[in-house]
Amino acid sequence: MEDQTQAREILKSLTEEVSEVATYLRELGVETLEGTLPSAIEASARTSEKAKVARPPAVAPALRRNANAERPQPSPPEAPLPPPKPSTSTPRVAGEPPAFRQQTAMPKKPVRKPSPDPPAPRETLFGDITPADDLSLGHPGETFEDIRRDVGECVRCPLHQGRTHIVHTEGSPTARLLFVGEAPGADEDATGRPFVGRAGQLLNKIIEAIGLKRDDVLIGNVNRCRPPANRTPTTEEARTCKPFLLREINVARPDVIVVLGNTAMKNLLDTKEGITRLRGEFQDYKGIKVMPTFHPAYLLRDPSKKREVWADMKKVRDYLNSTKK
Ligand code: URA
Repeated sequence: MEDQTQAREILKSLTEEVSEVATYLRELGVETLEGTLPSAIEASARTSEKAKVARPPAVAPALRRNANAERPQPSPPEAPLPPPKPSTSTPRVAGEPPAFRQQTAMPKKPVRKPSPDPPAPRETLFGDITPADDLSLGHPGETFEDIRRDVGECVRCPLHQGRTHIVHTEGSPTARLLFVGEAPGADEDATGRPFVGRAGQLLNKIIEAIGLKRDDVLIGNVNRCRPPANRTPTTEEARTCKPFLLREINVARPDVIVVLGNTAMKNLLDTKEGITRLRGEFQDYKGIKVMPTFHPAYLLRDPSKKREVWADMKKVRDYLNSTKK
């Protein structure tokens, strides 16, 4: 008997709450729920009266789902709405959400968290990729500044945890030559600039060897945050960051991309071949010539490989000279 009274009270309070929410939704322009919720509650109340033990009705969550389906959601809250509190009956100001909604913090900007389940690949400006989120996707007419802004204070992958600076692509978007490395090292992380450590000094010499200056070219990396202990970025980390580089390539459309080392090559060309097999021969990335060559850090460990890199860079220089406008 006591149970029944309690159940009736809870249902009465929920009915009030749901009708408050329905009013709120109507104010937001969601009309399709009209009529169905109160009757659903009534039906639920009738059924529950027969039941010995009161159960919280499934109507409130259903309402939230329907509301989400109907309402445009520019910035949905990350956390699910808390369940309505049956005791809430604070009078509501018109145009404001009911009390239990007011307790739900609605962040002004979505807080980015690494996504455990990457979304399905989508057709983008540069073909099928798996973007981490909408901000990873390019749009026609965008600039390097737009891309940098979309990277933001990125926390899309775990590498953000150990970084000091995000290392963006450096150089002019009108450059004809782009060098792509793997990820920043300690010096790059400390300064926020790509290839400024020992490998970077050697890269500067390579650039000068083909008659160019560092300022004439673009230099970037597949990943913009330093991996712990300079380990190779995981496939997932590379896949999360790579869209921003691909967008820059789409904006700059350089004549040649030099990919430095295995990781950069595999990520750009989506190949399982190793650098030793592909280096020295032009490959293709969406109509752009790609020259795979050894990473300068590898040359520091094995200077005898400079000979091959020099041969590869001469091909790059000759191609650039032959296509000069
Ligand atoms: N190695 C890389 O691959 N990138 C850098 O920016 C520095 C070292």
